[in-house]
Amino acid sequence: MKIALGCDHIVTDTKIAVSDFLKSKGHEVLDVGTYDFTRTHYPIFGKKVGEAVVSGNADLGVCLCGTGVGINNAVNKVPGVRGALVRDMTTAIYSKEQLNANVIGFGARITGEFLICDIIEAFINAEYKEDETNKEWIAKIDHIAQAAEEQFSENFFDEFIEKWDRGEYHD
Ligand code: RB5
Repeated sequence: MKIALGCDHIVTDTKIAVSDFLKSKGHEVLDVGTYDFTRTHYPIFGKKVGEAVVSGNADLGVCLCGTGVGINNAVNKVPGVRGALVRDMTTAIYSKEQLNANVIGFGARITGEFLICDIIEAFINAEYKEDETNKEWIAKIDHIAQAAEEQFSENFFDEFIEKWDRGEYHD
């Protein structure tokens, strides 16, 4: 599998360990940075991981920052990303089986490197269990991103303005 991997500057060492681990398991790693310990901003790398996954350039993504909260918020803003910030095996497997999560994230100052690697392996190996409920809920989640994009479109209020003009609104 091809895995996009991103982090911020405070956990670059863990990212290198994760990259080595993934390669040792036969995966291809698309390392989107950051590559050293110079202060940077996690949204940049969350966005890069998300775009790699959504564009099909990677099959799955892994995001790391200190707590995991920052970079995982960023990656989840990329439409089409379903990112799971996890600290345990059960949540990671659930996120793939039920939500078809395509990005997994960690606080690499919170969760130990060995556990992160084991959880990533379990996440990769878990399979999405598609059923009507999961399909419907995933579609609803994806719809939220779509609706958010539409809100920023200049035509968002057209339907309501037209109704107003037609006199359809009454106090
Ligand atoms: C970086 O300064 C730090 O805030 C970041 O790695 C992370 O912990 C945010 O959630």
